[in-house]
Amino acid sequence: MRTGPIASQRFFLSRGLSTDSYLLNLMSDAIESVLHEDRLFAPAAEFSARANISSQAQYEAMWQRAKDDPTGFWGDLATKELDWFQPFEHVMEGDMPDTKWFTGGKINASYQCLDRHLKTARKNKAAIIWEGEPGDTRTLTYQQLHHEVCKFANVLQKLGAEAGDRITLYMPMVPELAIAMLACARIGATHSIIFGGFSADAIADRNNDAQAKLVVTADGGWRRGKEIPLKANVDKSLEKSPSVEKVVVLRRTGGDVDMVPDRDYWWHDLMEGESADHEAAQLDSEHPLFILYTSGSTGKPKGVLHTTAGYMLGAQMTTRWVFDLKDEDTYWCTADIGWVTGHSYIVYGPLANGATSVMYEGAPNWPDEGRFWEIIEKYRVNIFYTAPTAIRAFIKWGDQWPQKYDLSSLRLLGSVGEPINPEAWMWYHRTIGGERCPIVDTWWQTETGGIMISPLPGVTATKPGSCTMPLPGVVPAVVNEQGEPLGLNEGGLLVMTQPWPHMLRTLYGDHERFVDVYFGKFGGKYYFAGDGARRDKDGYYWVLGRVDDVINVSGHRLSTMEVESALVSHPLVAEAAVVGFPHELKGEGICCFVIPKGEIPADEAKKELIKHVREQIGALATPDQVRFTTALPKTRSGKIMRRLLRDIAAGKESAGDTTTLEDFSVLAKLREDTEG
Ligand code: PRX
Repeated sequence: MRTGPIASQRFFLSRGLSTDSYLLNLMSDAIESVLHEDRLFAPAAEFSARANISSQAQYEAMWQRAKDDPTGFWGDLATKELDWFQPFEHVMEGDMPDTKWFTGGKINASYQCLDRHLKTARKNKAAIIWEGEPGDTRTLTYQQLHHEVCKFANVLQKLGAEAGDRITLYMPMVPELAIAMLACARIGATHSIIFGGFSADAIADRNNDAQAKLVVTADGGWRRGKEIPLKANVDKSLEKSPSVEKVVVLRRTGGDVDMVPDRDYWWHDLMEGESADHEAAQLDSEHPLFILYTSGSTGKPKGVLHTTAGYMLGAQMTTRWVFDLKDEDTYWCTADIGWVTGHSYIVYGPLANGATSVMYEGAPNWPDEGRFWEIIEKYRVNIFYTAPTAIRAFIKWGDQWPQKYDLSSLRLLGSVGEPINPEAWMWYHRTIGGERCPIVDTWWQTETGGIMISPLPGVTATKPGSCTMPLPGVVPAVVNEQGEPLGLNEGGLLVMTQPWPHMLRTLYGDHERFVDVYFGKFGGKYYFAGDGARRDKDGYYWVLGRVDDVINVSGHRLSTMEVESALVSHPLVAEAAVVGFPHELKGEGICCFVIPKGEIPADEAKKELIKHVREQIGALATPDQVRFTTALPKTRSGKIMRRLLRDIAAGKESAGDTTTLEDFSVLAKLREDTEG
């Protein structure tokens, strides 16, 4: 096994280094080591011959046109690919950060995903093939999905929902989640999906921020054979989120729930006898389609807002380009719809393309570690999109699991959520892809709406660990702190220099924060969302991880500050500092340094704090380590020096500069307290 590149890359990626120390590190060993990664995998000629984008020349021509003439490029695509009730007048108005797309046009995302296919042979094609964790299955054709969506759109309207209202969806991975999303889109209500791993408090915060009027949930969902009590969490959240007037409850697990009269309604009661006729609302291109909360380095979660036409065009085109979707493909993205990947690449992108999208409710290791491979064999999945954190778990579970199943239907593999370690890439390539499937390592973010930098499977020769080249319409750069472009092999900050249709439009209710967070750093000139990167000698992008105080746990962003706030809200805690550290499966684990109010308590208290964080934020924020200490390293101005804590959490000697440390004895004390 080659350890050089991995060891150094992991060291690097998982530390979420602060900008300065990160850049410093970039200049030292990390770049050197990463450069050892010179394996190149060119697409097979047969793959290229059939691919939606099939040659380097075609890619380059598209990319260049989109760069030089974005209006012509995106305008032509929008006219051809989107179904308009009323054509747009302008392709693009205004510069970043406030670019508007396809203004004057009227459109509907639900119509784009459903109605227009009903006039074609796709009418009776499977839109969603669903598999529940206990093994129950359902297939919905485009016609059937349309039927359900129309009924639920009528239900929502009868409950008083109108265009512009915000509706929270807190649901398991069941077809009704997609139905509810598309029904919201159909009437022009803005959905805000909250991942089922979030706690009641997190739901309440999001309900309040969005001023949600309705919540759609389920009694529960299945995860590793256990029931997740979704409705009970919603009940608790509603004590703190008064804007919510009504709750629709899907019966999924059959578990006990409290139904509050005149507030809570069963999904099946409302749907019974409801009409399946519903005319999709004709909405402005810039009508808000959804809000999705994501973590930032400071303050409360950010309500990333996406609008209709631009987002749909991005989701649709990137799905087709990157996954090379063909009508006959069975496509499976294993993400949860509670994250952006599920929005764009389980629901909106695949359905807009008239694809067959597989959806699985549960865990990859239930009832055993072969579940994913069993699903691939069962449905003859052709395209499989998952995350490095899952791939690392598969490797750990052993090759015997995938080897038990026939994976020969696969023709393309994808990865998303964090940098993929080259060895994990190689395993994916060999063991799952049988050395014949191109791998698309897709870099993007909640904010970007769709994939930005990724191989095109029929074109790009891939390098394990690199997301390679920007898609047409994406013009990135690697710059220094002053915004000056850096040369090849120089590590810096990844920015976008041109607007794109599927970018976020604002942070819900806080436009100032939006401008500040994403555009403030470079005076409005560039979009910057916190990643470091470098380009290699061939111009390939290597994303090196976050440069802010955001940690990437299992491919999902968590703010260290949110975890700190949760800790400090416990009566035992005086002060807390949270950092990421390299974690074998999760990519980054969560390490909490805690100064208790009184004496250092017994180890039992650690469990208590872990439980408290879970209650405050949710299971996804479960700390991996709690370390009690009597002091934290601070600068003279009182800022916690997290990079020093990162070193300690990672079990390393501090190599970085400590000259700004206020009290040198703190470091020794800290090591003594937490390691001794
Ligand atoms: O740091 C990057 C990492 O995940 C962040 C975006 O997280 P989120 O908005 O939760 O969206 C995840 C799914 C799109 C990015 O800022 N990231 C995502 N994909 C990659 C990646 N880092 C490296 N390579 C990737 N392919």
